[in-house]
Amino acid sequence: MLCIGHRGAMGYEPENTLLSIAKALTLKVDWIEIDVYNVENNLIVFHDRDLSRTTNGTGNICDRSFDYLRTLDAGQGQQIPTLIEVCDLVNRRCGINIELKGIDTAGLVVKLIQEYIEQGWQYQDFLVSSFNHYELKKVKDACPQIVIGIIIYGLPLNYLEIAAELQAVAVIMSCDFVTKEIVANIQNREFKAFVYTVNKPEDINNMKLLNVDGIFCNYPDRCFG
Ligand code: G3P
Ligand code: CA
Repeated sequence: MLCIGHRGAMGYEPENTLLSIAKALTLKVDWIEIDVYNVENNLIVFHDRDLSRTTNGTGNICDRSFDYLRTLDAGQGQQIPTLIEVCDLVNRRCGINIELKGIDTAGLVVKLIQEYIEQGWQYQDFLVSSFNHYELKKVKDACPQIVIGIIIYGLPLNYLEIAAELQAVAVIMSCDFVTKEIVANIQNREFKAFVYTVNKPEDINNMKLLNVDGIFCNYPDRCFG
């Protein structure tokens, strides 16, 4: 079962910061997961729309300038990182799951991935995911080689059809809805079953018993316990 460090290793360090990514790397994650927004044509790594929970700033991230965001403290003196900074830090030591949070992120992410491919990275070094399947379609239409996963809320009736239509490799679902049968249904269609967010040791064990392919975890070391 793959261990995907959620927002880096957010159980240990401020989420979606370089410190959190570095911690996840020391814990030997297979992948890290981070969230991105487009702010003035820069891809910045951040989870919430509102700045106040995780920084000393206020307001909606998309109403703020890139320069303002870079002055903020995202925890322990960390700057809100750019996606480029995250990729450079990771430097192919694990996979990077880029979750498209904001609108108009698809085009910038495709461009960024292609730039890293030109530097010698592989498409398999990235997994692009989103709850916004329209944004994922834009990614796939622009560059079919990019590997994508659909994230689903709850358990829609047609999630397997959506995954097939988008040529996704993975269905990413909440641990609240996962069962052995659902995992089998996903895997029988040749998709990977990834589950978020699984933190308790007993739940992690249960995911292994259910044969899921990977979990998102705030405490990545627990995946290997
Ligand atoms: O991709 C899995 C998970 O990260 C989705 O939920 O809210 O943590 O971005 P959230
Ligand atoms: Ca996420």
